[in-house]
Amino acid sequence: MIQFKSNMDTNTVEEIFSQIKSRQIAALMFHGQMADYFDFLSLHGYKRLHEYQYFDESATFRKTGRYYINHHGKLLPEAFDGDIRMIPDAWLTANRMSVGKSTKQKAVEDGFNQYHEWESDTKAVYERYAMKLRQMGHEADAIFVDGLVEDVDHELKCLDRIILDLISAGYDMVYIVESQKALHDKYKKMIKEIGR
Ligand SMILES: [Fe+2]
Repeated sequence: MIQFKSNMDTNTVEEIFSQIKSRQIAALMFHGQMADYFDFLSLHGYKRLHEYQYFDESATFRKTGRYYINHHGKLLPEAFDGDIRMIPDAWLTANRMSVGKSTKQKAVEDGFNQYHEWESDTKAVYERYAMKLRQMGHEADAIFVDGLVEDVDHELKCLDRIILDLISAGYDMVYIVESQKALHDKYKKMIKEIGR
């Protein structure tokens, strides 16, 4: 469950950047919880994917705060207001050994659908912020936000591939389990490149 909405009724650069930081906090909560979600299901490739996004987006979160302080000379107020709860309540008292095939299958489908919805919304929100900054005459700030749009666009491209393959395989558990090692190794390697 994601209870979070970016405020689109923003009129200053400060408000827009504060909203971006707030969305980045929600995204970190999302990816951190999704890493646990897939770890609990013993799907280590998907766990690594979300762990990679968690660390990569942590670096971007730091970059955003740094950018604002160094280009506007001011601190951004913390504005996070929302609730992110990706782990179903029933899992909190269960043991991963008792999770059956159909529960796993549905969890994979639900998890990826929510992931796709979150990133699509994020892309649309950042695109609108970049457009607004441009309209207000803040070109450099708009270029910074363009970079965020580019990041999420790339994330969506990789995500689309995974989802399309899952659809082609009919969310078959044998396919899902067999695809974990390659994903695990790919993201494990990519984690080492963050911040370089
Ligand atoms: Fe993300």
